Amino acid sequence: MKWLAYGAACAVSLAGASALAQKSAADAIADYRASLQDGNPADLNAARGAALWNKARGPKNASLQGCDLGKGPGVVAGAAASLPRYFADADAVMDVESRLVHCMVTLQGFKREELTAKPYSSDGQKATEIEDLVAFLYDESRGMPIAVPTGHPKEQQAYQRGKQIFFFRAGPYDFSCASCHSADGQRIRLQDLPNLTKTAPAQAAFAAWPAYRVSQGAVRTMQWRLYDCFRQQRMPELKYLSPASVDLIAFLGVNANGGKMAAPSIKR
Ligand code: HEC
Repeated sequence: MKWLAYGAACAVSLAGASALAQKSAADAIADYRASLQDGNPADLNAARGAALWNKARGPKNASLQGCDLGKGPGVVAGAAASLPRYFADADAVMDVESRLVHCMVTLQGFKREELTAKPYSSDGQKATEIEDLVAFLYDESRGMPIAVPTGHPKEQQAYQRGKQIFFFRAGPYDFSCASCHSADGQRIRLQDLPNLTKTAPAQAAFAAWPAYRVSQGAVRTMQWRLYDCFRQQRMPELKYLSPASVDLIAFLGVNANGGKMAAPSIKR
């Protein structure tokens, strides 16, 4: 019931309040973020993630140091800024989270079903290993230019499918991603809705995830961001690491090319 009420509130307040009220609310949130920036709790997740990455674990008692994130085995620096991309060994386009799980399965011998059963922590729970590892991987790309490749035909196909999904209207409100993210100055309650069809906001959005969500006291990944937007769109649940999720991230990433990674960031 709470969820339905929230939905109704979203729908009616899309038009938003006066320009003045919007400005001051957005400014207040920006100030709040700035005040936290020197002590981002996601730093702790990244540190735990680094330790997990380097530790021999799993049925094969191996570390993740041999994982190829696209820049060669063991190269982590800058890798997240160039994902999703095509990997010949899996014959698939993979985002950071898909590739991480792939490495945990192939190098460490973990079971894919177990890794993907509960990728996100619940309220008040400690971060999942995936959340910590993802925070680490993105932290290693901080400040790097976003350079999501489009040279391989499968990368181009992923981008095209992602674009199609972005503009595909469905569900009880007949919403697409674009319903909330293709106009300037839209808001839901206090949250600005970035216009993801424009370069600067698309870059800022892609650069900012994963993020530490103050309201949830947790690091949330890009897969989580899209899962939650699917929910807001009243679509069926977005399956973790599904082709649709990777396609959308490829679409968002290519549109953000040339921006600068700034994740893990802080969000309200
Ligand atoms: C009903 C409106 C709605 C729909 C539909 C929607 N979103 Fe969102 N989206 C939001 C809200 C609200 C936020 C959070 C804004 C905030 O917290 O500041 C958000 C945030 C995002 C962000 C992060 C932006 C940033 O700067 O941090 C991305 C990326 C995103 N959405 C992508 C999508 C995609 C892709 C789809 C389609 C699958 C989609 N959204 C559908 C409402 C929506």
